[in-house]
Amino acid sequence: MKAAIMGYGTIGSGVAKVLDTNKDIIKARLGEELELKYILDLRDFPGDPHEDCFVKDYKKIAKDKDVQIVVETMGGVEPAFTFVKEMLEAGKSVTTSNKALVADKGAELMEIAEKNNVNFVFEAAVGGGIPIIRTLTACLTGDVIEEIDAICNGTTNYMLTNMEQFGSDYNEILAEAQSLGYAEKDPTADVEGHDSCRKIAILTSLVSGKNVDFNEIPTEGISKISSTDFRYAKAMGCSIKLIARSVKVGDTYSCRVAPFLIKPEQMLYHVAGVMNAVSVKGNMLGESMYYGAGAGALPTASAVVGDMVFLARNTNRHVKIGWDHEKLELADSAKQEYRFFVRTSALQSNIENEFDKVEYSNLDLDEEVGFVTQLMTEAEFDERAAALGGVKQVIRVF
Ligand code: HSE
Repeated sequence: MKAAIMGYGTIGSGVAKVLDTNKDIIKARLGEELELKYILDLRDFPGDPHEDCFVKDYKKIAKDKDVQIVVETMGGVEPAFTFVKEMLEAGKSVTTSNKALVADKGAELMEIAEKNNVNFVFEAAVGGGIPIIRTLTACLTGDVIEEIDAICNGTTNYMLTNMEQFGSDYNEILAEAQSLGYAEKDPTADVEGHDSCRKIAILTSLVSGKNVDFNEIPTEGISKISSTDFRYAKAMGCSIKLIARSVKVGDTYSCRVAPFLIKPEQMLYHVAGVMNAVSVKGNMLGESMYYGAGAGALPTASAVVGDMVFLARNTNRHVKIGWDHEKLELADSAKQEYRFFVRTSALQSNIENEFDKVEYSNLDLDEEVGFVTQLMTEAEFDERAAALGGVKQVIRVF
């Protein structure tokens, strides 16, 4: 079975390493060798063990009838989309780790794969090394999924954990996450929550069977979380985690990505460093949770290689997972209900006028007070917070 890799960066080179390291066991499990024939990259890699495989024109791969499996680890929507489309149309199955591509073009590529009787899979696109995609599309496919709560960005979880435990400086710890190969090419996608947003959009598409537009998911990142917020969190016995949520409401889902205050009683509280976790509630299964390395070359490459074996086992057969082109109209996010932690310079009497009963969390700071509201909708909170004024920070309570 001959394969090609498009994009020899952190993940692509990790895929080659997994194939080399575990060559024998993969051969034994598949019943034939999984052989790397081409690597597409514009750069040169002199001395690389796969030096002979490098090509600069993707059409060379598309035209080679020997190649049945293509790995896309280039990142970004274009030219990845054009290349992947052409591979599928040429009768090759594709696996990608590229969530930007899957979130934007997943339903379309799935349709093209079906028409050409091949497969398009993307286990590595969500949760890095956690096998959450196949879990949802195969193991839990008999359940109605009622809720997904995920820490699904390794970079930000690594940063928040270090800020909490060691008081690390935001920029220094971001640079460290980048040097460890966790961050996206443009780390804005990590720290502003866009990466988590695309991942929860993909998971919601898979459990709803319709196409979620990730642009419609309200998304906040961690760039406004400060050491003062962590001091308040500690005083309340909480941590702060970037959580991507999707909750079933009637026939649709209500989604959000935001930093949340979370207590130790919740399993997601304990997910530290680069680890990711996805909690899934099914109507028959109840709650289950999946935990593992969310970023990094080898955990992500391990998921890609797992997909390659799946593709090799399913040549000449499209495996349908039920992700249609039809758009999913998400539920109104303004109706989501939370308790809100607020830091404000407003007077205590005004806080109680606007919010009635609140729980104070006082650090004895000059010119501000912290409090947690009762449960209310987003819309109601926005109205009351605007009337209160002086709001410096708002963090939802999980
Ligand atoms: N930048 C991503 C993360 C990589 O930090 O989780 C894995 O998708």
